Amino acid sequence: MTQLPSTTGTRADPAAARTIALINQKGGVGKTTTTVNLAAAIAGLGRRVLLVDLDPQAHASLHLGVTGAEWSGGDGIAPAASVYDLLLDPSMDPAQAVRPVRPNLGLIAAETGLAAAETELAGQPDRLTRLGAALARVQAAGGAYEFVLIDCPPSLGVLTLGALAAVREVFIPMQAHFLALQGVSKLLETVAHVGRAVNPRLSVTGVILCMHEATTTHSREVVADLEAFFEAGRSQDVPWRAARVYRPAVRRNIKLAECPSFGQTVFEYAPGCPGAQDYAELGRAVVGEWDRLAARRLVPREARAPAADIESKPLAAVRA
Ligand SMILES: Nc1ncnc2c1ncn2[C@@H]1O[C@H](COP(=O)(O)OP(=O)(O)OP(=O)(O)O)[C@@H](O)[C@H]1O
Ligand SMILES: [Mg+2]
Repeated sequence: MTQLPSTTGTRADPAAARTIALINQKGGVGKTTTTVNLAAAIAGLGRRVLLVDLDPQAHASLHLGVTGAEWSGGDGIAPAASVYDLLLDPSMDPAQAVRPVRPNLGLIAAETGLAAAETELAGQPDRLTRLGAALARVQAAGGAYEFVLIDCPPSLGVLTLGALAAVREVFIPMQAHFLALQGVSKLLETVAHVGRAVNPRLSVTGVILCMHEATTTHSREVVADLEAFFEAGRSQDVPWRAARVYRPAVRRNIKLAECPSFGQTVFEYAPGCPGAQDYAELGRAVVGEWDRLAARRLVPREARAPAADIESKPLAAVRA
């Protein structure tokens, strides 16, 4: 059975939030689409979600209708601080950067100036811990977000490393292609490295299959290889020992590609479409396992069932 990283405290405790960075250094794999629509799905279940747009492309912000014009107040909307301000000025009140964009959904937006943060932060000794500190201040100031989702850029630079230092979990959105699998093994190595350096509690807990074509033999083989690789890690002291391939896979669906241009989530743009169905079900899966973990925390450790004895299998495709 898949186990999530254990946490302490209750849901009202900021430390008990499920903090997740959505990472893949490969571009265009579905990170932003997943972050936005998964966040919307969870918020739609009545749970408080904070979405952090950590990508200078600012696609998650655009997807939620927060456009560049707003930064100058051009739309008549009061300018709010961005994630750039939060990272560059550790003394600022982080509440200024959180926009309530939908019911139960807060956004810390990005703007293109965030690209400069990579170099501006380079000389700062606390560059990797600033984001985590800012998020802790948001929670301590009454944010009470139960889920924090961070949309990362397609690189493993300072911004992404800061996200890895700030969260407990990594989700890897990816397409079920052979080359994508090789990228995942590199990403896992990086996560392990960062884990040892700055965040020993970090775990890779999920892969989300995006733009999925379940009918091809190739994608079925890649998914089987991926699952075998995760199974092989169960008994090892690796950050992905609790990882799973989430179901459902998100099908390729043009509505998901269209909705960002309207500044809408898929649930607003085309609520009945396959993309909306897949992300809604994914949201239920992510919330459901969190609730089951919370219930388990109420059970004394000695009363819990022992972990299943999982057979180790090699992942030939990744090692090749
Ligand atoms: N399931 C899907 N069906 C159809 N199109 C999709 C799907 N998921 C994502 N897309 C589209 O694919 C493109 C890439 O997706 P997205 O922007 O989410 O990837 P990304 O990993 O965030 O990219 P980047 O690395 O540039 O940040 C976008 O045009 C998006 O609308
Ligand atoms: Mg993106």
